[in-house]
Amino acid sequence: MTEAKTPPMDSPSGDVEILIGDSRDLLSRLEARSVQCCVTSPPYWGLRDYDHAEQIGAEASPDGYVENLVRIFREVRRVLRDDGTLWLNVGDGYARNGGTGKSGPNAQVGNTRKRIQRRNCEVPDCWGLKDRDLMGLPWRVAFALQADGWLLRSRITWVKKAPMPESVKNRPSNATEDVFLFCKTPTYFYDNQAVREESGANLRNYWMLGPDPGGTFHPAVFPRELVRRCVLLGSRPGDLVLDPFSGSGTTDVVAVELNRRAVLIELNETYAIQSKARMDSGLQRTLFLRPGQGSVQVKR
Ligand SMILES: C[S@@+](CC[C@H](N)C(=O)[O-])C[C@H]1O[C@@H](n2cnc3c(N)ncnc32)[C@H](O)[C@@H]1O
Repeated sequence: MTEAKTPPMDSPSGDVEILIGDSRDLLSRLEARSVQCCVTSPPYWGLRDYDHAEQIGAEASPDGYVENLVRIFREVRRVLRDDGTLWLNVGDGYARNGGTGKSGPNAQVGNTRKRIQRRNCEVPDCWGLKDRDLMGLPWRVAFALQADGWLLRSRITWVKKAPMPESVKNRPSNATEDVFLFCKTPTYFYDNQAVREESGANLRNYWMLGPDPGGTFHPAVFPRELVRRCVLLGSRPGDLVLDPFSGSGTTDVVAVELNRRAVLIELNETYAIQSKARMDSGLQRTLFLRPGQGSVQVKR
């Protein structure tokens, strides 16, 4: 792993800290049992290039990706309070041989770049995958986390009101993603009154969400409403929320709007700086950018 760079700016410490560097290094510096709720979306395997040699998602094979995520979320478990929760959004993908067209796993869409695509133009030699197989990555990650000690409590289907168009003719177009709810112990904090169905019934496990225009500098931004639900269900005002793959900082923008504190980790310094600007522009009171080196103190 490369060393984290010194950030270009500092500001007085406040409710949110951005740690610039690799989650595999930086999580170990957070205090055990300090975080109430982790809401995160790691890079999907083989989909996008986040411009850093140590990026998750660029592993040669998806089984290496699952191993890396297990290792990172083991540290997340350590820093979670015993009644804490992990809300994990992971995307799927197809095993493909060749292809660099306008759709499918090798497409040049948005900020998708070629480096990862070339590597994944061969069907990975694992899990008995064949050309055009859906890899089932969300569930492979979920099963691996279960085996590592996590308690899996729910699979929420995020139904996209405006999904990315796909020009496929031999299968239905993808319009959903998975969000898994994990916990450490059976007696975890879950505020079932915080988000209800319109009828007043207990919230169901499919969430229909539209696109969110905020945070457009990043290619894979969470809808704020998705994060809002996870934070409201999984924490109380004043609690600490973590995102170890923070991207444009959506988790933290929402956490602060809901009067939680937040700590986020992002490998790509440019995204970290841009997310600071996003939060400084009216959504965030104070923010402390901290290098990956030296000790990390989570403000209380
Ligand atoms: C899918 S994006 C997260 C987007 C975020 N949910 C948002 O709303 O903006 C994943 C992020 O993880 C970052 N990343 C990749 N590998 C990482 C690592 N080893 N440690 C920390 N961040 C990493 C990427 O740079 C990317 O910004």
